[in-house]
Amino acid sequence: MYSDRIRMPALQNKVMTAADAAAFIEDGMTVGMSGFTRAGEAKAVPQALAQRALQHPLKITLMTGASLGNDLDKQLTEAGVLARRMPFQVDSTLRKAINDGKVMFIDQHLSETVEQLRNRQIHPVDVAVVEAIALTEEGHIVPSTSVGNSASFAILAKKVIIEINLSQPLSLEGLHDIYIPTYRPTRQPIPVLRADSRIGGTAIPIDPAKIVGIVISEQTDSPSTVLPPDAETKAIADHLVAFFTSEVEQGRLTPQLMPLQAGIGTIANAVMHGLLDSPFENLSMYSEVLQDSTFDLFDSGKLAFASGSSMTLSAPKHEQVFADFDRYKSRLVLRPQEISNHPEVIRRLGIIGINTALEFDIYGNVNSTHVCGTRMMNGIGGSGDFARNAHLAIFVTKSVAKAGALSSVVPMVSHVDHTEHDVDILVTEQGLADLRGLAPRERARVIIDNCVHPAYRAALNSYYERACERGGHTPHVLREALAWHINAEETGKMLID
Ligand code: COA
Repeated sequence: MYSDRIRMPALQNKVMTAADAAAFIEDGMTVGMSGFTRAGEAKAVPQALAQRALQHPLKITLMTGASLGNDLDKQLTEAGVLARRMPFQVDSTLRKAINDGKVMFIDQHLSETVEQLRNRQIHPVDVAVVEAIALTEEGHIVPSTSVGNSASFAILAKKVIIEINLSQPLSLEGLHDIYIPTYRPTRQPIPVLRADSRIGGTAIPIDPAKIVGIVISEQTDSPSTVLPPDAETKAIADHLVAFFTSEVEQGRLTPQLMPLQAGIGTIANAVMHGLLDSPFENLSMYSEVLQDSTFDLFDSGKLAFASGSSMTLSAPKHEQVFADFDRYKSRLVLRPQEISNHPEVIRRLGIIGINTALEFDIYGNVNSTHVCGTRMMNGIGGSGDFARNAHLAIFVTKSVAKAGALSSVVPMVSHVDHTEHDVDILVTEQGLADLRGLAPRERARVIIDNCVHPAYRAALNSYYERACERGGHTPHVLREALAWHINAEETGKMLID
């Protein structure tokens, strides 16, 4: 039975229902599940767990790679299963529970979760639940559309449950590059020297005796929900292409640029689409999530290679890519997220990191996570891993949100994810601010002149001029610094007429 998928005969009698497998998860446990940006998550077992919890309440700490699809975070939240959740999420039901203080959310740099686990700085994983396309003859796990944190979860957990997903094609085998850093004090350099370096094996090596259950599932990954590019995201992309062109003209970049990383969401995907109409050639990506734009860039001949930790595609793009996967496979690799996001590798390769801000301030501090300083949106994800260590740390956003009621450029950010020290370039549809080598007062001038929506420019100029009159290296009018956010909380608008 399923001998092409469960190739170690001794494991075939471990096949069981999702409910039986979920029974290994007990109240109070820490569970590590596969899944990264709605790709490759375990599906049947968390659903069975949520069903059970509706009858017999239980609470767990749930760790994943990043966000889950198939409404799993919603179902687990509604069933009251989640006491603690880390390191990332994008679900509106879970978001509300986090912001109501009902779920403790640990918003973490994506490269760090398994490093903390390995060094026993956080509670160990009791049970790992990992989606796979197959188990090898040695009982090793071949992951599906993401690697995320699955490798270390399975290696470090006491018990492992495998979901063999028949909807995930066997052609994915060979795509993954599983490398786990060695322990200190004898840790070795991570030998990724180029985006296409392969440094590990194609399956997750574990002792098969730890596999307590195997569940067969057929549920597909949720398609990506990113929206197509619009006039504003096109303008953002155009500004960036003009900037890269100028960097090439000045000899700081070649037409190959440097390996590109693009964050999650509509804006980052649209910006990558903008490279389709650019003069650059032979591009590479060293990123975490590979979205539709990656495959459009392959098809256009612009992109030579892409390294990521997951593939999250829209339904039509998924159909197209998997109808002819061998066309792409030799130009792709999926790695554990601690390697795709590793500071050592990011600094070595000279990544151009392009991530999205909710808001940034006149000095270049970026808020990617907290609406009005208090309410969690999604989490920092990998943006901090990349921004701090990138060759060029770029943040993009539309200049206004909520139909113009909110400015994305503010006097002082209401929460700081990326400090002014980590940010090189800011881009809105209005223009691009190049902050390299500038002091705070110079940064403010460049940001206000280039990035702010005209409706907010006079107010920001006024704030900045009055702040400068008071003096300081980074001038502020502290009584007013968060007034725009207070207005937004009280009236829904940052500026009162
Ligand atoms: N204040 C309040 N809300 C804002 C805002 C602001 N300044 N700017 C944007 N938003 C809201 C939008 O209105 C939208 O809300 P909606 O979903 O209710 O319509 C939502 O944020 C998403 O904005 P959108 O413009 O559609 O951009 P996006 O899909 O590209 O997402 C982030 C933007 C910042 C939320 C997303 O990129 C993110 O979570 N980033 C942090 C993690 C990260 O960077 N990861 C990258 C490596 S994993």
